[in-house]
Amino acid sequence: MPAFQIMSGSSPIPTAVRVFAPTAATSAHAHVRSMADYHALAARALAQPDAFWAEQAGRLSWSRTWDKVSAWDFNQVDIKWYLGGKLNACHNCVDRHVADGHGATTALIWEGNDPAETRRLTYAQLHEQVQRAANALKALGVRKGDRVCIYMQMIPELAVAVLACARLGAVHSVVFGAFSADSLVTRINDSGCKVIITQDTGVRGPKQDIAMKANADLAAPKTPSVEKILVVRRTGSSVTMQAGRDSWWHEALAAADAECAPEVMDAEDPLFILYTSGSTGKPKGALHTTGGYLTYAAFTFHYVFDYKPGDVYWCTADVGWVTGHSYLIYGPMANRATVVMFEGVPNYPDYGRFWQVIAKHKVNLFYTAPTALRALMKEGDTWPAQHDLSSLRLLGSVGEPIKEPEWLWYHNVIGKARCPIVDTWWQTETGGIMISPLPGATPIKPGSATLPLFGIQPQVVDEQGTVLEGNDVRGCLVLAASWPGQMRTVYGDHPRFVDTYFKRFPGKYFTGDGCWRDPDGYYWITGRVDDIIIVSGHNIGTAEVEGAIGQHPAVAEAAVVAFPHDIKGNAIYAFVTLKTGQAASDEVRKGINLKVRDILGPHAAPEKIQFAEGLPKTRSGKIMRRILRKIAEGHVEDLGDISTLADPTVVESLVSGRQ
Ligand code: WTA
Repeated sequence: MPAFQIMSGSSPIPTAVRVFAPTAATSAHAHVRSMADYHALAARALAQPDAFWAEQAGRLSWSRTWDKVSAWDFNQVDIKWYLGGKLNACHNCVDRHVADGHGATTALIWEGNDPAETRRLTYAQLHEQVQRAANALKALGVRKGDRVCIYMQMIPELAVAVLACARLGAVHSVVFGAFSADSLVTRINDSGCKVIITQDTGVRGPKQDIAMKANADLAAPKTPSVEKILVVRRTGSSVTMQAGRDSWWHEALAAADAECAPEVMDAEDPLFILYTSGSTGKPKGALHTTGGYLTYAAFTFHYVFDYKPGDVYWCTADVGWVTGHSYLIYGPMANRATVVMFEGVPNYPDYGRFWQVIAKHKVNLFYTAPTALRALMKEGDTWPAQHDLSSLRLLGSVGEPIKEPEWLWYHNVIGKARCPIVDTWWQTETGGIMISPLPGATPIKPGSATLPLFGIQPQVVDEQGTVLEGNDVRGCLVLAASWPGQMRTVYGDHPRFVDTYFKRFPGKYFTGDGCWRDPDGYYWITGRVDDIIIVSGHNIGTAEVEGAIGQHPAVAEAAVVAFPHDIKGNAIYAFVTLKTGQAASDEVRKGINLKVRDILGPHAAPEKIQFAEGLPKTRSGKIMRRILRKIAEGHVEDLGDISTLADPTVVESLVSGRQ
């Protein structure tokens, strides 16, 4: 069993923190085996950053070595890495593995929505597919620098399409497959995509025939830049094909030549644009470039997931999000990993689906999001108990803080107390993981992303931008130095890039997140800083209150927002979903209130508690507080755009249940 110790924190986040040291079995074979090794590497990366990052770039194959490792300036907001270097991302993720004699290694294990459907692609097969797809795109007029919109579900052709674009030097913009036609229009027009790659219809859980091509058809008349639509046949449902504009993927690939040389790209040529989730305002097109991004994805995948040849790795994220870009395609494939890609959902055909897939493919490394864990934890332990999870060696989490209850469940019930949990903090903007435990080295505190990776320089600053030195400090999380995976600009709107990330604290990159660096120097992300509520003059982080509410045994999930209060200025309104089988009652309400008082103090106790069936979330699982705020404030007639919600119907029941 891992070491166990109690630490009294002076911050209200953890009242007592258990520390889980890496097991000897994990450390013995890890890429980084001790904290001494971690500190040594981190010190070298700080002392000689260019030498360190040059070494990391050595993970890739370059057709021309860079002249200069880095040239960045956070005051001028100009960021460049590996200047003058030339490479191709697809070549690095596919071709070189085949050339090195690993063509027979499985690249992709695809698990369909229906448990009977599985497909496997070796690196050699992937190589052939991407070349044909690249030639098919060329035939449609796609050239280096053109933008291509990929609007698909989680099918193997999605990975092929992404890599085929990279091969040609076309900039892909993946739009999550469940977005509406309107969301598609905004994103296509912002980046001026020439081609849409989509599929006939999709399947997801019990939903059959999800409109995909039909949405592309709705979007096309409003997107003047779109010339062609390439359509993968997934379900065989009938769709309208417009002559001259639309063509079938399978026909185009069959007709295409099987050989296509990868385009030689500059390190700073764009690789992709990815629109951020858009929980507020117009979506921003985060632009990532080729050399730095791929180096960073490859580097982080190697260390954080501690990947070894032969491991089967599964990332449940959709390629529509950055996690799917960096840790389903680019990072793992640059490391020649075997990756599981899953078309379905965690609760179809039943709540044991994730665990069944792990047993079926003998998954060793599993990366998912706290929102999925909470949803599954709520259904109890009997689902995972029905499947053999003994192949698991490492568990990962991303997207939001993983709080203690779900952390312990993940650790005990899924990982059987054997597997380290890497809680990885990062952003679309950072390209890859920034703060995370290293599985063989870092003693883990549940709920903390722990320590920065090598070469990453987080700082905590106060409202005025003063750097808070030492430990046990709270403030805004900024990054003092660039790293290769950093986004370079907001596509088509550099001033917005400067304003959003570099204006508030000049000379630094502002993450938008609040954090606490605890007495041991560990980082605890307390949520977006715009998620701070001021009640009677106290700054209260929504994440902290939610964490405290989550300690009540009946609670599955909570979201809190502010609403105006005559005396306190603001008061706290909590939306709470209960575990299956738990009934809402005044007693539970009282219990929750007491829990928050106990953990955080009376100032943080919610004024109102509304029990809800579900919370309004974006499809990447982020709670849209903007909607909850309006409901809490009573402005229910104007909830704004709710079309990007995973399930827009929850809004109605939230409005009717208003306290
Ligand atoms: C939050 C997802 C706490 C954070 C890769 C960040 C997290 C935002 C964690 C980025 C974590 C992500 N602990 N918070 N491990 N991971 N976040 O762009 O607020 O979809 O700024 O990228 O998610 O979300 P994005």
